[in-house]
This record gives sequence, structure tokens and C-alpha cells, in this order.
Amino acid sequence: MTILINHANEVLTMATDVKGPRLKEQMSEIGLQQDVSILIEGTQIKMIAPLKEIEQQYPSLVADAEVIDASGKIVMPGLVDCHTHLVHGGTREHELNMRLSGKSYMDIMNAGGGIHYTTTKTRETSFDELYDKTYTHLNQFLKHGVTTVEAKSGYGLDWENEKKQLEVAKKLQETHRVDIVSTFMGAHAVPKAYKGNEDAFVEQVIQEMIPKVAELKLAEFNDVFCEKGVFTPEQSRRILMAGKAHGLIPKIHADEIEPYEGAELAAEVGAISAEHLLVASDEGIEAMAKSGTIAVLLPGTAFFLRAPYARGRLMIDSGVPVAISTDFNPGSSPTISLPYIQNLACMNMGMTMEEVLCATTINAAYAIQRGEQVGTLEVGKQADVLILDVPNYKQLQYFYGMNHTHTVVKNGQVAVKEGSLVE
Ligand code: NIG
Ligand code: FE
Repeated sequence: MTILINHANEVLTMATDVKGPRLKEQMSEIGLQQDVSILIEGTQIKMIAPLKEIEQQYPSLVADAEVIDASGKIVMPGLVDCHTHLVHGGTREHELNMRLSGKSYMDIMNAGGGIHYTTTKTRETSFDELYDKTYTHLNQFLKHGVTTVEAKSGYGLDWENEKKQLEVAKKLQETHRVDIVSTFMGAHAVPKAYKGNEDAFVEQVIQEMIPKVAELKLAEFNDVFCEKGVFTPEQSRRILMAGKAHGLIPKIHADEIEPYEGAELAAEVGAISAEHLLVASDEGIEAMAKSGTIAVLLPGTAFFLRAPYARGRLMIDSGVPVAISTDFNPGSSPTISLPYIQNLACMNMGMTMEEVLCATTINAAYAIQRGEQVGTLEVGKQADVLILDVPNYKQLQYFYGMNHTHTVVKNGQVAVKEGSLVE
């Protein structure tokens, strides 16, 4: 199967000479080209050049190609959502009025709601029901131009149910077009039954769950909610080091609600990313810049919890590679709209329109070790291509709160056409 995308107003390849996550002004390099076409063969990008050159070089591929006319539109890499709690039972709209009338996220959790409520729902939901629910969410992601999604477990909080969540993600990786990258997050909360006996649960995560996740190859990453009243920095360090010993790469929910030296811990343990960072300290940001830890910022969570936003501008200027993501989950950020998250990052974290594109493509890809496969439009890379119905990329943030996705080519196949899913 061959596809040829022609006549785009703008093609943003996001490609540069830089290998690895983009820093500082590199984050503004969007690789804008006009008057180029894109040839896709099979699952890969074959050539990006003026149409005439492609026709000369590959006449027979061009003759057979399905032609997509991108006149008046822009073309860019498929979006990468590098932090989600994708697989979960139930919803939590009943918490919204509580929070609007002043109850805090942690108050609700400590009273047995929040993550505990979703854990109960996830345990009660069968594999098949979870699979169907998540399939629907993945369809929504795809319609918003997202072609790769990271998925954390963490609503089972016992082996049977953590495994169920991870296996749902694994099956969806086989059946759904969107690529899923799995993270084990058994240490997402201390189960109610372990109240007052937190270290026993930490031991269970370390001794029982992490070895099994690694043995069954159910995840690539290992995450922990390092937060006052959840897991201490010391417990988090032990959990992340145990994962590392089993080949699971550390990630960390750091400095989300209260400063807790989570950013510092991420740098210390060599985490690939520290995520949230709403209240990360100056020292933590400096440590991350030194260690090259990627900051995965989640402005939808600040918005929905009505909390202060992470200092994205300062992080970029300090030399921290920044990615942004939805944090899709039923409590603190129930949205799949990465385009809306881009807008929040512009309006509330001082990031530019170019930087948010980098933060949701190539830097997000590096945050889940997919930077060599996706995140830019380059010859040889996976053909995950997005066509947006705007004449220039600046309109993406200008006409905000809308879904501009017109066409999505996923892995060399048309997955969304004129905004609708293709079966
Ligand atoms: O990233 N902070 C911990 N985990 C999620 C929220 C999970 C939930 O509320 O269900 C987060 O914000
Ligand atoms: Fe999260």
C-alpha cells in the first residue's frame, strides 16, 4: 500500500539534526516546509520532497499510490500522548461539585474516594468490559490526532487487577491502531486495607509485582506516586530501584500537590522522566537539567484541580527537555484532547506555539523511548501522519478548543478520514 500526500500549505516535519530530546531553542525548530509532498510505502515514510522529485525517483510507487489532497491544510507527525492512566473502570463526575465547593483532591482521596473509588470500580470491571471501554477511549484519541499513547496501570493495587489492566493494554496494542506503551504503576496509592501498614504494601510491590511484570514483559516503565500521604521519597526510591534491577525504566509522579523533592529524586535515580512537577523546586529543576530527565508536564491536571501550573517556561530556559501530555484519568484530568492541552500549555505555562508542537511529538516520543520510531516526519520512520484542517500551524492555538483533525494516517493506513474513523 502506497500513499501520497500532496499540496499541503505547510508540512511540519519536526526534524532537526539533534538526536535525542530537544532542549531550549531546539524546541522551536518545527521543520516547516512548503511545496513538498510525502510518499508513504507500507508502514514507513519513503520520501519527503517536491512532487516532481518524488515522481522522478519512484514513478511506479506514485502511479499506484492512494493520493490524499491536503490543499489548504497542514501536515505534521501524529501526536504522542506520553502520560495517561488509560485503562480504568468507572468515572468520577460526582467529585466535581465537591472540589468546586472547596474540598481538595487529597481530602477526597483520604476519605476513601479518588484513586480508591476508581480502584474499586476497576476491580469490579471484567477484562472484557475494560477492554471495550478503553477501545472507545482509544478511538477518541485517534480522532484527535493521537497515534501513540502511554498507559499506566495503578487502579488494581493487587497483582490480579494490576495484571488485568496491563493485559488489557497488551491486547489493545495488538488489536487497536493506536500504539500503546505500558507503564507499571502498582505504587499509585496505598490500598485501604494497608492503611497504617504502608511498608508491607511497598514490599508487595517490590517482591511480588515488579518481578512478575518484568517476567511477563507486561511493561517497559515503572512509575510511583511520590506525594505526601501516598509514597515517601524513600519508599519511591526503593520501588524505582527495584524496578530498575528488573529492567523497568523509572518514571515518577513528582511534586504534583506538595513539594516533596520528587524532581531531585528523578534525577538521582536516572528516571527517564519526572511527571507533573507543578510545585517542583528550583534545585529540582536544576538537577533535572543536569541529568537530562524529561519533564512531562500535564497542564490539564492543573486546570481541572484548579492548581498552579508547572513552570514550563523556566524549565525550558533552564535546559530541561519538556514534553506535555493529557494525564488522561478519571479524577484529575478526564480528557483525551491533547490539542486542548497544547493550548493550556501556551496560555498558562508560557510555552510558544512551536514548543508545544515539539512537546507533543518528538519530546513526548523520547519520554517513552520511541523517539527513533515516531515523533517526526523523516524517511524511514513509522508513517504516523496527521493532516489538520487549518491553513497554517498558528491557527491550531488561535482557534482553540476545537478538534482540527482531518485525516490520520497510522502506520501507513488511513485511520481517520474527514474527521471520522475508517474501519
Ligand atoms: O496523575 N496523581 C496520581 N495519579 C493521577 C490521578 C489519578 C486519579 O485521580 O484517578 C494523576 O493526577
Ligand atoms: Fe498521572
